[in-house]
Amino acid sequence: MLDNLGSLERTHTCGELRAENVGEEVVLMGWAAKKRDFGIFTFIDLRDRYGLTQVVVSEETAKEAHTKAKNVRGEYVIAVKGKVVNREEGTVNKKLPTGEIEIQVNELLILNSAKTLPFELEKAGSQNLASEDLRLKYRYIDLRRPSLQKNLEVRAKALRKIRDYMDSQGFLEIETPILLKSTPEGARDYVVPARIQQGKFFALPQSPQILKQITMISGLDKYYQIARCFRDEDLRADRQPEFTQLDIEMSFANEEMVFRTMEGVMKEVFSLVDAEFETPFPRMTYAEAMRRYGVDKPDVRFGMELQDLSDNLKDTDFAPFAKILEEGGQIKCIVAKNGSGYSRKILDGFQEFVKRYGASGLAWIKLEEAGTKSSLMKVFGEEKINELANAVNAEKGDAVLIVAGRKSIVAASLGALRKEIAKRDELIPKGVYKPLWVTEFPMFEYNEETGNYDPMHHPFTSLMPEDIPLFKRAVEDGETELLGKIRARAYDIVINGYEIGSGSIRVHRGEIQSLIFKAQGLTPERAKERFGFFVEALEYGTPPHGGFAAGIERTIMLLCETDNIRDVLAFPKTASAQDLMMDSPGDVDKKQLDELGIKIID
Ligand code: AMO
Repeated sequence: MLDNLGSLERTHTCGELRAENVGEEVVLMGWAAKKRDFGIFTFIDLRDRYGLTQVVVSEETAKEAHTKAKNVRGEYVIAVKGKVVNREEGTVNKKLPTGEIEIQVNELLILNSAKTLPFELEKAGSQNLASEDLRLKYRYIDLRRPSLQKNLEVRAKALRKIRDYMDSQGFLEIETPILLKSTPEGARDYVVPARIQQGKFFALPQSPQILKQITMISGLDKYYQIARCFRDEDLRADRQPEFTQLDIEMSFANEEMVFRTMEGVMKEVFSLVDAEFETPFPRMTYAEAMRRYGVDKPDVRFGMELQDLSDNLKDTDFAPFAKILEEGGQIKCIVAKNGSGYSRKILDGFQEFVKRYGASGLAWIKLEEAGTKSSLMKVFGEEKINELANAVNAEKGDAVLIVAGRKSIVAASLGALRKEIAKRDELIPKGVYKPLWVTEFPMFEYNEETGNYDPMHHPFTSLMPEDIPLFKRAVEDGETELLGKIRARAYDIVINGYEIGSGSIRVHRGEIQSLIFKAQGLTPERAKERFGFFVEALEYGTPPHGGFAAGIERTIMLLCETDNIRDVLAFPKTASAQDLMMDSPGDVDKKQLDELGIKIID
């Protein structure tokens, strides 16, 4: 019943033939995406990675092929041999690149059958996809969707562009091991038990950070790697447990050199979607980003910046606000253009939204045509309310949305609300890419759980020179809370609200490195155990150096205009870090565990 391929070879792909090919004898192979039976004619849409071609089998001219075509069902793999002909008047499909022609089949081979699919493949442009879990279980079928195939193609092209560019700039591609020791990116490690050294474990790299720095100590000067990284952390729409970075490191580098290199790569990669990046990218300090956008990865495609009302309310006798200001908190707002029409229900929704970020509530002012309304009207009276609205340049038709509270909560909640409203009110221009550098990150952030100051980037980040005296005071004189004020020579590339990558100028002297370990609460013994080899390496002639790592998936997400990271990986994991197709992680045999000296405790 099934045919063999024999010596038959494809002459063209299913996306290739055009009117110029009319008259040619061709052989196409692919999957039967759709079949329509019209008695003596059977039409099949034949699909492969390159496109779709309509083939038509006539009972009159190709009886045997026609009989076979009747048996073809969805996703059967077939080969057709035939002639390219013009489609009949009125049946040209302008949406399809091959839509002017069809193949008049004289021979048809059924190369394989297919069971009924567990879900329907996407119809062009359809949003009605089957559940993601089902599609992940049958990833091989889902990957037949042209949109996913296109994403993987973009990914491959981007990687090629990156390699070509790095090579043109004299960088050396160096691979580093996957079986490693714990690296310092701050997530949990994936660990691999060692059989030969029972009771010991490798850790999979969270990044090649230490090794790339060591290549600088070795004099390799300019390193890059398309590096696989593994992090056992809470997953989000833009995070996977296993992801890929473009990882670079350069010797004798300052910020400008790293910036120029990365801007060059990004320009190349985004040329794939004809986005023109002006270089140098704009720069913004972390402090400014937090002040104006409430986040360290601002989406600057639209305005609606955070504005501070604290000064306008500094003498208020409204007790909740007065208390917040007294305790060093803030009162800030955003102005939603044309937001005066927000209903009570919408405003309640916003209120719930900001509460998720720790805000205790959301106050509002609506500048309606008929007059000003506000949730604070009773408290402040119309005059003061209008004064506040004026102070933030709100106009008739706008809404002012206000959050009061701790600085970090005000920033997080208004920063997120700003994005939410921009999405809701469709304020974000499409097809626009706005890259920027965010600089001068804090070196440490306070960890409420442990009471320690953890490095915000990683401990190998060097400090802003002017902050070093303060840093020494913090560590040597025990004024720990000063650590929160120390700035790092760390920088991120942010595009359209995504942190695309991070880097820093590194510490290249052992003394400062040891102080940083101390500052983060690592005892000398623990620091030695984790990073001793590295601190020692620093003592053998380490050049000043710096580098960067850009997330490949996040970059491709932007290129492919998806906000789901799984759309840009061939075989992604779920939000609970599982591979549903292979059903991993899975059990291992008792024998394997015995060899490893591992016992599972229930
Ligand atoms: P960082 O930890 O900021 O820096 O990571 C760099 C970039 O990698 C991407 N990324 C991720 N992508 C998908 N899933 C994840 N779980 C994930 N985690 C990170 C992001 C991020 O900006 N060693 C330093 C770099 C350096 O200093 O050179 C590092 O790894 O796009």
